[in-house]
Amino acid sequence: MDGTDELHPLILAAARGKLPTWASVGPSRRAHMSRVAGLMESWARDLDLAESDTARWRAAGFLHDVLRDAEPDRLRASAPPDFAQLSGPLLHGPVAAERLRGEGVADDELLLAVAYHTIGHPEMKLLGLSLFAADFLEPGRPDEDGWRRVLRERMPHDRGRVFREVAAARLVSTVEKGRMLRAESVGLWNRLLAEGFGGSAADPSVEENVRGRTTAPNMSPADSAPEARS
Ligand SMILES: [Fe+2]
Ligand SMILES: [Fe+2]
Repeated sequence: MDGTDELHPLILAAARGKLPTWASVGPSRRAHMSRVAGLMESWARDLDLAESDTARWRAAGFLHDVLRDAEPDRLRASAPPDFAQLSGPLLHGPVAAERLRGEGVADDELLLAVAYHTIGHPEMKLLGLSLFAADFLEPGRPDEDGWRRVLRERMPHDRGRVFREVAAARLVSTVEKGRMLRAESVGLWNRLLAEGFGGSAADPSVEENVRGRTTAPNMSPADSAPEARS
C-alpha cells in the first residue's frame, strides 16, 4: 500500500496519462502535458515525496491543460464569476479546476494549482509553484539561448529563485502587452519576495535576468505570449 489507492480515480488515471473523457486537447497539446508531467514527477522525486504525492504531481501536469483546446466561448459560459473577464486563452485553468471539483476531486492544493497555473496565486503550495514553473520551463518550449534549460537545471537546488524568475517573466510579459495584472499574480510576486526564496528582496540578479530576457532580440512575440506559456 503506497497511498495511491486513496486518490480520486480521475487523479490516479491522469497520473498514468489517461485523461478524462471530457478532455479537449490535440496531439501537440497532449505532448506538452506529458512533458510537464515528466518534469513534475522528476521534481517530486528530487523532493523524495511519497508515491501518492508523486502521483498527484504527475496528475497535475497532465490535467492543467485538459481543456486548453476547447472553444473559449464555451469555457467562458461555465467559468466561475471571478474569471468571466479573463482573456480566452487563460480560461482553461479555472474551468478545468471547476470541472474536476464537480467530478468529486476534493484535493484543494491540486485544484488551486490547475486553476492558477498561468496566473499564479499567493496561496500556492509547492505543487502549485512547481506546476507554474514546469509549464513555463518544459523542454518543448522555444529556448534559443538556453535560459529555460538553465532554470530547469537549477530547480533542485535553487527552487525558490527559479520560482521568482518565472513569476517575474510572466508579470513583465503581461505588462509589456498592456494587459491588466490580476491581483493574485501580484500577490504571488509579493509573497515570493517576502519569503526571500534563495535571495534577498534586494538581490538584483533575478530582475536583471528577467530584463535581459524580455528585451532579447531573439525572443519572438509568440514565445513571450501568455498563450504560448499556458
Ligand atoms: Fe495552460
Ligand atoms: Fe500548459
